Amino acid sequence: MASRSTIMDTNSYRAEHSAKLDPDARRLTERRSKLLGESYRLFYRKPVHLVRGSGQYLWDAAGRKYLDVYNNVASIGHCHPAVIDAVYHQMSQLNTHTRYLHETILDYSEQLLATLPAEIDRAMYMCTGSEANDLAIRVARAWSGGTGIIVSREAYHGTSDLTSGAG
Ligand SMILES: Cc1ncc(COP(=O)(O)O)c(C=O)c1O
Repeated sequence: MASRSTIMDTNSYRAEHSAKLDPDARRLTERRSKLLGESYRLFYRKPVHLVRGSGQYLWDAAGRKYLDVYNNVASIGHCHPAVIDAVYHQMSQLNTHTRYLHETILDYSEQLLATLPAEIDRAMYMCTGSEANDLAIRVARAWSGGTGIIVSREAYHGTSDLTSGAG
């Protein structure tokens, strides 16, 4: 199958750029490609080797500080103490799925739903953005009976069959 160029190819690293990398970055890109394969993209012709984050800032291995105006994953900032405490506390107690009774998921859902419009009165939890988008499409299809989805060109919604548009 012929590969199609996507938004993830824009300004991403490819092996042909390795000559311009410093030894540390070259070693990591080679190791990465050997262990993770080529299908994982690396942002930027010169990939950034990040080692630490705090609030809105990130630091690379050389100690350079970056203002993070891009990362959409750490939604209340990098390494927020409240998130670290909550994750540590829960991981030290119990790490399981949603098919057992537990108060915490209910307490959290109450707090979360209280911040949303009244029509949104249920919470469903996924582990990743891909799964959340996948489920949202399934829920929308089940509710509407429709099948179509409008997606802007070059949008990125995840790696599942549905969200990557491979299916
Ligand atoms: C806008 C958007 N949607 C979906 C995803 C997929 O999330 P995940 O990698 O957790 O599956 C990402 C991940 O970067 C994203 O940026």
